Parts: sequence; structure tokens; C-alpha cells
Amino acid sequence: MDSLIIEGGTRLKGTIRINGSKNAALPIMAAALLADGPSVIHDVPDLSDITHQNGLLTELGARVQRQKDGGLRIEVVDESNSLARYDLVRKMRASICVLGPLLAKRRHARVSMPGGCAIGDRPVDIHLRGLKALGATVELDGGDIVIDAPRLRGAEIFLGGNFGSTVLGTDNVMCAAALAEGTTVIESAACEPEVVDLADYLNAMGAKITGQGTPRIVIEGVKELHGCAHRIIPDRIEAGTFMVAAAICSGEVTLENVRLDHLLAVTDKLRGIGVTVEKEGGGCTVAALGRLRATTITTQPHPGFPTDLQAQFMALLALADGNSIITEKIFPDRFLHVAELSRMGARVHREGATVIIEGEQRLIGAPVMASDLRASAALVLAGMAARGTTTVNRVYHIDRGYERIEERLNALGAKIRRVNQKDPDQ
Ligand code: EPU
Repeated sequence: MDSLIIEGGTRLKGTIRINGSKNAALPIMAAALLADGPSVIHDVPDLSDITHQNGLLTELGARVQRQKDGGLRIEVVDESNSLARYDLVRKMRASICVLGPLLAKRRHARVSMPGGCAIGDRPVDIHLRGLKALGATVELDGGDIVIDAPRLRGAEIFLGGNFGSTVLGTDNVMCAAALAEGTTVIESAACEPEVVDLADYLNAMGAKITGQGTPRIVIEGVKELHGCAHRIIPDRIEAGTFMVAAAICSGEVTLENVRLDHLLAVTDKLRGIGVTVEKEGGGCTVAALGRLRATTITTQPHPGFPTDLQAQFMALLALADGNSIITEKIFPDRFLHVAELSRMGARVHREGATVIIEGEQRLIGAPVMASDLRASAALVLAGMAARGTTTVNRVYHIDRGYERIEERLNALGAKIRRVNQKDPDQ
């Protein structure tokens, strides 16, 4: 099992290109199941989650190939198997995004029910409510969701829940409605840029979707969809993570391939605490010098502050001047990084879904344990700013969402080594 060994205290300087978005690519790859004919998806990052999705699509009868130019070509060659096995879903929760495409195209699917994960319970009740409204019948059998619909009919569907809308739920309903008879209106749809990217891909395949990026999406069902070429949007969470890297290391980093309009809440917070963010061509330059100011952050659905950057900002604020408050409104238990950051000397106190951070002058390197993707990224960031050596164990979590993170940070001046060592728990 790999670990990252980080020598802290280096300043970052240089240029880095941000990859295509993992969370846009996963549902778009699943939506390729809807097409008659091949799609070529450009800028799909090379991550373990993408490898899992390739494996799942292959089992579902698709031929998935990386082309010489890097594009991912996906073509369905056999529609006889519509089962997403527990073994695959267990490894990657986002496998649930095959549910809508399979139902729409094959009128039947059996998808293992995803369990909880390190960031919370993560139910799929709203996905199922939306698909039922289109005429599907849903049963639970042996831990699998068994879903059928000889006909799908457009409907008015409310997709709000206690924590806002649902990103992958909106994706699933949008995919199913694309091939339904008549018009579907999704109210309280997720507005995340990744949902817009999926809608744009579906439209390029021949779907008729409007309103993406707003809480009201309207879908006129069509009879069939064809393959097409599509380029994935830049990963806003990877961009935000590298912005925090520049800030926490008092560095100056130019990020290429960034959509700053997808990161308004994030750049607003960064500027508010004293970080400079300047637009430059298709990207931006992020610079910070010395101690930053404390702030308050509440995570919210887009365009609010993203939950996927909460842990990274906690690491940054642990070194700010004054007391900060972070409240998590999307996944109220997404705080496994709190105890690990404390091991490095961060003064962080959790009270329910809120964490109070007393800014310290310094963090001290320590062995810490990665628990989920974004928490792992936060520990790497803390390690780069800490005095001494930090070892982040179980970095397979980070490989799910960041391509060759140590190589890319080292190119900017970080000192990170990957080693293969025995898991301390085994
Ligand atoms: N929820 C329900 N019922 C549902 C669906 C969701 O109660 O049927 C709740 C969730 O428990 C949560 C909230 O609604 O409290 C929002 O969850 P959402 O469904 O939007 O999350 P998701 O679609 O499963 C995606 C990203 C996550 C990201 C969230 C929120 C992908 C593959 N995953 O998950 O990304 O945190 O949206 O923005 O797109 C990550 O990349 O590290 C990651 C976890």
C-alpha cells in the first residue's frame, strides 16, 4: 500500500495544467451507454475511479479504448448484461450513474445499492423517486436495485432533499428523461457545472435539454441518441486544491485550463483571507505571502462553497491569523480529517457539523491516515506547509481523484516521495 512522505516548508512556484473533471467524466462516460454509435470523450483524466468506470462499462457491453490523442472512445457492442455488480459499485459509489442510462436505453437495470462511505450515509432515495416519477418500478433484491420501465413518460419532478438537490440524482433523471416520451421538468435540479457538462454532452448526442445550470431543467424526450465528440470541463476541485497548495506554501502558481466562473465562491474566500487570484488567459495565477486571515465558510450546493474543498480549506485556515469557522451543510459528517490535522498540531474543535479552527503559527509533520479523497488532499497540503516530515498513509484514496499528485506538486517545488509500505493496520 502506497504512502506519501512529505518534507514540509518548501515554497511552490511554477505552472500547472488542470485536468478534465473526474466528476463530469464519470456520468458522461455512463451516458455513452445511451448512444447508438461511438462517442469520443476528450480530457478524461487518468485516475483509478476512471479505470473502475471503464471496467463497469466493459461489463455492461461497451468497448472502451484510449485513443492515441488521449480521447476515450466508448461504443456499446452488446446490450445483454445490465447488471452493475456489488464488487464494482462497492469500489466506486459513482457507479450509480449507470442507473438512468441503463433504464432509458435497455428499459431494465440491476445495480447494486451503494453503501455509505467515509463521508456519510449517502442514500439514493431521491434518484429512485425521480425515476419512479418517469414510470419505472423499483424493487430491492439481495442488496440490488432492480428497476424496470417498459415505457418512460415525461413528468414534473421535484428533486430537492434535506441537504439540497442531488448531483448524480439529477444526472440519472436527466439521462432517463432524454429518451422518455414527452416533456420532463426537473424542479430543484442540481446546478453544478458537471450537470451542465452532462446536459451539453446529451444535447450533442441529439437530446433536447434546456435550463441546465439552473434549478429548473426541461427535457423534451427524443426517440434515439447518437454518439458524438465531447471535451470534459476542467476540474474545479482539482483547481481549488492547487490554489490552496499555492496559498498554504506562500507560493506563486499559475494554473492553466481553469474555469474561474465555476470557482467564484472559492476565489471570493481566497481573496477575502489575503490570497491574490488573477485571471490570465485560460487560467489564473494564485499568490500568497505570509500569514492569511481567518474566515467563516459554509458549504452549499453550487454556486455556493463546494463541500469537496472543505477539508483543504480547513488545512489552510489552521495556519491563518485568528479563529475560523467551517460549517458543512452537504455531508454533515465529512470531518475525518479533523483528528488527523490535530495530530499535526492544528487546533480544530468539532461541534456537530461545525468546526472551529484556532489559527496556529505552524503545523508539525506527523504520520497521518488518509480516509477519503478530499481529506487525503488536505493532509498532503498540511504536510507541505508543516515543519518536518509528514507521512500520509493509504494514499489510494488520493489516486481516485488526483493524477500523479506528488509528481505535479514536485514540479512546483514540493518534496514528496511515494513509497510502498505495509499498512500499519495489517
Ligand atoms: N442525498 C440524499 N438522497 C439522495 C441523494 C443525495 O439524501 O438520493 C443527499 C446526500 O446524502 C448529501 C446531499 O444529498 O447530503 C448531496 O449529495 P449528492 O447526491 O449531490 O452527491 P453525489 O451526487 O453522490 C457528487 C460528487 C461528490 C460531491 C457531491 C456534492 C460525483 C461522482 N460525486 O456526489 O464528490 O461531494 O456531489 O457536491 O460527482 C468527491 O469528488 O470527492 C465527491 C465526494
